[in-house]
Amino acid sequence: MKHLLFAVLCILFGFQNLHAQQLKSPNENFIMEFTLAQDGTPTYHLTYKGKTVIKPSTLGIELKEDKNNKKSLLNDFTIIDKKTSSFDETWKPVWGEQSSIRNHYNELAVTLHQKETERQLIITFRLFNDGLAFRYEFPAQKNLIYFVIKEEKTQFAMTGDHTAFWIPGDYDTQEYDYTTSKLSEIRTLFPKAKNRNLAQPPFSLTGVQTSLMLKTKEGLYINLHEAALLNYSCMHLNLDDKNMLFESWLTPDAKGDKGYMQAPAHSPWRTIIVSDDAREILASKMTLNLNEPCKLKDTSWIKPIKYVGVWWEMITGKSTWRFTDELPAVQLGVTDYTKVKTNGRHGATTENVKKYIDFAATHGFDAVLVEGWNEGWEDWLGRSKDYVFDFVTPYPDFDVKAIRDYAQSKAIKMMMHHETSGSVRNYERHMDKAYQFMKENGYDAVKSGYVGSILPRGENHYSQWIVNHYQYALEKAAEYKIMVNAHEAVRPTGICRTYPNLIGNESARGGECEAFGGSNPNHVTILPFTRLLGGPMDYTPGIFEMDISKMNPRNKSHANCTIANQLALYVTLYSPLQMAADVPENYNRFPDAFQFIKDVAVDWSESHYLEAEPGQYLTVARKAKGTQNWFVGNVNGYEPRISTLTLSFLEKGKKYTATIYADGKDANYKTNPQAYTVRKIPVTNKSKLSQLSAAGGGYAISIIEDTK
Ligand code: NOJ
Ligand code: CA
Repeated sequence: MKHLLFAVLCILFGFQNLHAQQLKSPNENFIMEFTLAQDGTPTYHLTYKGKTVIKPSTLGIELKEDKNNKKSLLNDFTIIDKKTSSFDETWKPVWGEQSSIRNHYNELAVTLHQKETERQLIITFRLFNDGLAFRYEFPAQKNLIYFVIKEEKTQFAMTGDHTAFWIPGDYDTQEYDYTTSKLSEIRTLFPKAKNRNLAQPPFSLTGVQTSLMLKTKEGLYINLHEAALLNYSCMHLNLDDKNMLFESWLTPDAKGDKGYMQAPAHSPWRTIIVSDDAREILASKMTLNLNEPCKLKDTSWIKPIKYVGVWWEMITGKSTWRFTDELPAVQLGVTDYTKVKTNGRHGATTENVKKYIDFAATHGFDAVLVEGWNEGWEDWLGRSKDYVFDFVTPYPDFDVKAIRDYAQSKAIKMMMHHETSGSVRNYERHMDKAYQFMKENGYDAVKSGYVGSILPRGENHYSQWIVNHYQYALEKAAEYKIMVNAHEAVRPTGICRTYPNLIGNESARGGECEAFGGSNPNHVTILPFTRLLGGPMDYTPGIFEMDISKMNPRNKSHANCTIANQLALYVTLYSPLQMAADVPENYNRFPDAFQFIKDVAVDWSESHYLEAEPGQYLTVARKAKGTQNWFVGNVNGYEPRISTLTLSFLEKGKKYTATIYADGKDANYKTNPQAYTVRKIPVTNKSKLSQLSAAGGGYAISIIEDTK
């Protein structure tokens, strides 16, 4: 009765209960409630269409104790201020899945005061129509200036034993197949999920990486990730599987610390994207929207790229990155390569590169990547060696100037390769010279790589220090008008909005793994729900010869996909950077299928997700920027499946010709991967299509407007 009376008085007199704050999404589907627990611990709770998605979960930061920090930012808080605001703006990305993006949210910023320490912490929540984001902000204040994070204590309390699409927690690699299981099964399945890539002992048998995709029994799709990871360590999630409760687990540095901070500062955004329709998860632009607008004044030099490369022949083991087999060890500046014989299998020879340039020019590609062009590859791995490469000294059989001139004569751009071998300081020492060398020799994009253990020794691929390195490399590249595609770097968190010269990342299990024993056939139906939510992936699709022993008899791998599935990836795995990864000889064997790779666009004005279920299938239609042409891609998991589509995304009244590249009748990723059909049909926006996809298969469609 007393409470009721108080509530009525509050309403009548406009009192605000500072202990419980509510925030609604613009469409009111989401409600987030923020409260302080009895002991002053910040707590939030999220509902979607009236149902709980995140049960009451606590927030806070545990600090490393020193003489200044005796108490963490976990409890004993009172709310001293709150600010609400709304934001609605439409912005245009330099490249993307669509030419304009709406950023619409309601915001609540709660200022918390810790009495004993007289410290302040702000927690800012943004509620979009596709989910919730929040971050910790540490305003400038006299009692919290420098501090070290021991652990971030952000909870995500699940409502049940959901299905998860997960990869094991790991501070160094994301190159895993996804495991699909109940949350309660993660612990048992963890050793099997982990055993492919034993970079390190796991930090927990229930530790997983973000972006984590979840599905509830009731059919709700939930994605946990982060946005705008800058000057902070990358977040993993550790599951308390008794209570179905995830807690953040930051990547430690070499000393085991998780973040060196100086106020004013803030954490990245923690994101919870939610929908009862899987297609909406794929269409969500929340991660990009949480990043700052573009910081580059001139972006005219940033261009989507379709490329080929002297690459697959090395990945399969047919050719080598190294020049010679005569030297078990080399030292830059000491080893004289002119005194040793080439092994005859070196991929990056002038002659071979010219062949790829010819192929690129004949088939309308933009660029050619060449790996293994520079001195040092003979002992690049496993030595914990600091000075492996200098990024400017070519092998004797790679003529930089002749290749530059030849590429220019054919209007082909060269794409540089910087394998750092994890020696980050060495890369930073050489970076300016390396970027200058690129500009002088006609390279305006670089594929960088971080294979192996990081140097300085003890650092991890995803800690704060190296997150800052990836950012440094990106910003430095922008000064030189260079586009970056970083492999083995931290998984992206939408930073390409702010720095659109980040045109690609690997940071997941890519197409190369088809030559390293093969990936799960449904892998590509999960990636768009996980890794791709943070930014585009240089997946390197387009493998036409699945029997890898045809490239290299010693390599018994088999790619787990059909040719039609590989074509579809150019549409389903969005990226402004797409490689035709196979060798010219294999494309020449299947010219009618190769035609799709030649035709498909790499930049889009619209994208419509037509069908989607993580682990099973996804179909997307995209409109090529600046044209009336559309491309559709479907990828399919383990079970054959029929898609039923209406092409209602096409413009009313217009006529088009659709070319459908589909799995052949008995196609199958294992037994018959190269069976496909190509057929042409007239279509309009009323056309319906029923199309079978094989196990591990799919289809690709180009829909070109009839102009006569
Ligand atoms: C791993 C990368 O993912 C791959 O693309 C590259 O060829 C090798 N490292 C060598 O740098
Ligand atoms: Ca890799």
